[in-house]
Amino acid sequence: MDLIEVMESNATCRSYKPDPVPDSVLQAAFDAARFGPQGGNRQPIRWVVVRDPKTKKQLKEWYLGPWTAYIANARKGAINIGASSRLLDRADNFAHHLDEVPAIVVVCAHIASLHVTDPDFDRPSVVGGASIYPCVQNFLLACRNLGLGTALTTLLCAFEPQVKELLSIPADFLTAAHIAVGYPAEPFPKKLKRRPVEEIVFAERFGVPMLGR
Ligand SMILES: Cc1cc2nc3c(=O)[nH]c(=O)nc-3n(C[C@H](O)[C@H](O)[C@H](O)COP(=O)(O)O)c2cc1C
Repeated sequence: MDLIEVMESNATCRSYKPDPVPDSVLQAAFDAARFGPQGGNRQPIRWVVVRDPKTKKQLKEWYLGPWTAYIANARKGAINIGASSRLLDRADNFAHHLDEVPAIVVVCAHIASLHVTDPDFDRPSVVGGASIYPCVQNFLLACRNLGLGTALTTLLCAFEPQVKELLSIPADFLTAAHIAVGYPAEPFPKKLKRRPVEEIVFAERFGVPMLGR
């Protein structure tokens, strides 16, 4: 597929066929993923592929805790998430069937290998993630190119101690995301909904549009 087409159509997949994902297909996606940029090329990422039904069920149970609170707030408008009620229904259905997704990929990263340059500001530190999420996005795109649907989730990161124990993740690693992976039950959209490019690109000073409308 054309790269731009892959990027524009890589929707969050919330319903999956039960068909298993062969190791060879996952290998191709992980192989492509690892070429993302990583600070100092320290390559902190390790991926744990969970396919065991019991383990997936446990992950779903933990996921449903924060998800139930999140969707209740979203439905009463207490959080602004820019999602329609149809989308929320689909995400809710996904949550309740998370254990039926063929694979859940747990993204782990070696903490000391993340070069965090913004730890001291009065706002959440994000720079550590910059050595993780480019490879994660590569993985999502590679999956799309291979015909696989994915859903990047982070709610389970709140259960990091429990997930680490369950999956024997070493103490010096963190968990950065949990990615549902499988063949999609519905076709990919042609193009995702995003703000117009003219609205988000500035010239020289923040707020000064660079691109004409
Ligand atoms: C950091 C991050 C965390 C997310 N966490 C969840 C999640 O826990 N559950 C979920 O169903 N979707 C999750 N998503 C998917 C977003 O809801 C989705 O990208 C957004 O609604 C836009 O939909 P689209 O990707 O299909 O265009 C997450 C996405 C990101 C980038």
